[in-house]
Amino acid sequence: MMRGLKKWRLFGLAAALMAFLAACGEEQISTLQPAGQVAEDQFDLLLLSTGVMVFVIIVVSIIYVLAIIKFRRKKVGEDVIPEQVEGSKRLEFIWTAIPIAIVLFLAVPTVAVTYQLADVDDMGVVDAEGTPASVTVDVTAKLYWWEFAYPDLGIVTAQELVVPTDEPVYFNLTAADVKHSFWVPSIGGKTDANTDGVNTFYLTFDEESADLEDGVFYGKCAELCGPSHALMDFKVKALDEAEFQAWVAAMQESTGEAEGELAQEGQELFEQSCIACHATSGAGTTGGIAPNLATFGDRNRIAGYLPHSEENLKKWISEPQEYKPGNLMPDPGSLPGREGEAFSEEELDALAAYLFGLTVEDDM
Ligand code: CUA
Repeated sequence: MMRGLKKWRLFGLAAALMAFLAACGEEQISTLQPAGQVAEDQFDLLLLSTGVMVFVIIVVSIIYVLAIIKFRRKKVGEDVIPEQVEGSKRLEFIWTAIPIAIVLFLAVPTVAVTYQLADVDDMGVVDAEGTPASVTVDVTAKLYWWEFAYPDLGIVTAQELVVPTDEPVYFNLTAADVKHSFWVPSIGGKTDANTDGVNTFYLTFDEESADLEDGVFYGKCAELCGPSHALMDFKVKALDEAEFQAWVAAMQESTGEAEGELAQEGQELFEQSCIACHATSGAGTTGGIAPNLATFGDRNRIAGYLPHSEENLKKWISEPQEYKPGNLMPDPGSLPGREGEAFSEEELDALAAYLFGLTVEDDM
């Protein structure tokens, strides 16, 4: 009785888990809801192999059930010795040929699509005027943040990748310190970022991200890289062509200048203690030691994962190790000009006013 009860409990738990897990597929971060050609091709392969596996399970289960029903000793008699099939050429042939056929059936489309998705021949191609025909982004993964440089456009950003929709976007992927992996579940990727050598690939974004829950696709680091690996998130904004061009122009002109009295106080503090690592203008071709903050006010998260509030920003600046263990942002007391002093509440207010005022979207 007890054993039966335990089994049912386990079954109940599994059923509840299934219902719970089934709700995991949110549009902005689900491989099961592809939002670009690359993700769609990968999803089709996933369906194909799942279909084949389910088919194999069904066939084997039917044979198994038939065998136990048909060949019960009660039915065939106590003394019956089944037909001996050891060494049967026909059977050996069948159970060798079927798996080979299944593997080929899976391998042909998988290999074809893999090569097709690795095709970056059009990367860096220029038109008659020498303008690149498509956007190329140099992605550098660092402990625990992401830098996105657009060498052809002369701009750099961090943590929020901005891309145009409906055209292939090409990527050069590297890591600055240890191995990471770039992954936007709804779009594709999951490509290693290595310290030696560049991985190139392309992705396409079919829909503008503005309609999604947070207005962005979610990206993750998919390679265990240290204590804050799980917090090494980034976001992707997909804009239509006109909006993307407006964003690029606004980035090229961004200066990092504060507006308003409190923000100006913040800027002074920032220039004394933070500017050595963080740039505040999006113009440039290479990044700094720490994330470029030109689009800070436009972003969705603090430190890549905390809700985007002034409160969280102040906590993050005050205790960076508390929120992202092992990251390279120093304690405020050790910053230039601080002489061991943490930021006061007023100073934090000023810094927050300055940083939240750093936006290029207002100028688009
Ligand atoms: Cu970077 Cu995990």
